[in-house]
Amino acid sequence: MVTDVDDNEFIDFVGSWGPMILGHAHPEVVEAIQKTASDGTSFGASSPLEVELAEMVCRAVPSLQKVRFVSSGTEATMSAIRLARGYTGRKMVVKFDGCYHGHADSFLVKAGSGVITLGISGSPGVPDDIVRNTLSIPYNNESVLEQTLRDKNLDIACVIVEPVAGNMGVVVPKRDFLLKLRALTSELGIVLIFDEVITGFRLALGGAQERFGIVPDMTCLGKIIGGGLPVGAYGGKREIMDMVAPDGPVYQAGTLSGNPLAMAAGIAMLKVVNRPGFYTELEEKSAWFGGEMERIVAATQVPAVLNRIGSMMTCFFTPGPVTDFESAMRADTAMYGQYYRYMLAGGIWLAPSQFEAVFISAAHDRVHLEKALTMTESSFKKLMV
Ligand SMILES: Cc1ncc(COP(=O)(O)O)c(C=O)c1O
Repeated sequence: MVTDVDDNEFIDFVGSWGPMILGHAHPEVVEAIQKTASDGTSFGASSPLEVELAEMVCRAVPSLQKVRFVSSGTEATMSAIRLARGYTGRKMVVKFDGCYHGHADSFLVKAGSGVITLGISGSPGVPDDIVRNTLSIPYNNESVLEQTLRDKNLDIACVIVEPVAGNMGVVVPKRDFLLKLRALTSELGIVLIFDEVITGFRLALGGAQERFGIVPDMTCLGKIIGGGLPVGAYGGKREIMDMVAPDGPVYQAGTLSGNPLAMAAGIAMLKVVNRPGFYTELEEKSAWFGGEMERIVAATQVPAVLNRIGSMMTCFFTPGPVTDFESAMRADTAMYGQYYRYMLAGGIWLAPSQFEAVFISAAHDRVHLEKALTMTESSFKKLMV
């Protein structure tokens, strides 16, 4: 639950845009932060907490042979592409339309999340030279992917992808698309970066890469691994990570990176999600909720379709299917806005944008979910009038 300044209470399905997989103020996370704060909040040096979290993260995500903590998802993706360019000696970054990788200059090309919501078409403030080195292509489209990656004139350093897109609303990849992406990048010596800032520790302990059984060269993490404090991480193959300073020549550093409070919160959160049955329970609850949502959608004349995987989902106001940015953009955002306002008035806080995810957390119980379903049903009825 969250409470606004006028003391209205809402059941929260935004979850700080992903990190709050345990809900707010989980006692074990709060206790870890309090205890750590009393020892000092920042030293500008590594601490045992950083090592402990690094070990937990690398155990859960085996493709991470080495990992570096930073302070946000933006910093993680920005550092990962710099490293991929340094490692390959090439310059082009390929991304996918509607995917969002934070607000570093190179990524604000056909980006998702707030960039679509606010209708910002490109990237004012970003020099043309930077945009020239980012190519954005359609998600889930194997033929454009192959044609692009095989173009020898492009000098491609890396492909960065949300292995399940969460920032144009939830769009689930075709497994064949991810397999083709892995096969082509391996063949062509292009670094494959999975941006698991949302999906890491949400879709499974090992993220989307565990769920789809695909091993990227590098992975970016954030959100859940910081337990709700500012955090990010990037890591991957040892030979690539060995290029990061001070071992190698690719510079990256941060005053607050590996900050003890964030590390302590992350450790506490990962201890909880590591407990047996955590993801099974979350999956079952989310599948039940998703099934009920689909039943409501099927019973109404409102043109809508639900995309769901695990505990992340989006109800798009279009008959669908929604498989990429172009089909997501067919959604009726005015209708979503009306739905959002009806839900808010009924005590349910959804993302104020069609192009974001609903996140189910361990703190959502049957009563919360049933209330959200009842409100959805009545909102849909009002949308038909
Ligand atoms: C997939 C993905 N990558 C990167 C980011 C950027 O993370 P941050 O907001 O921590 O900078 C986000 C933020 O929503 C994200 O969803």
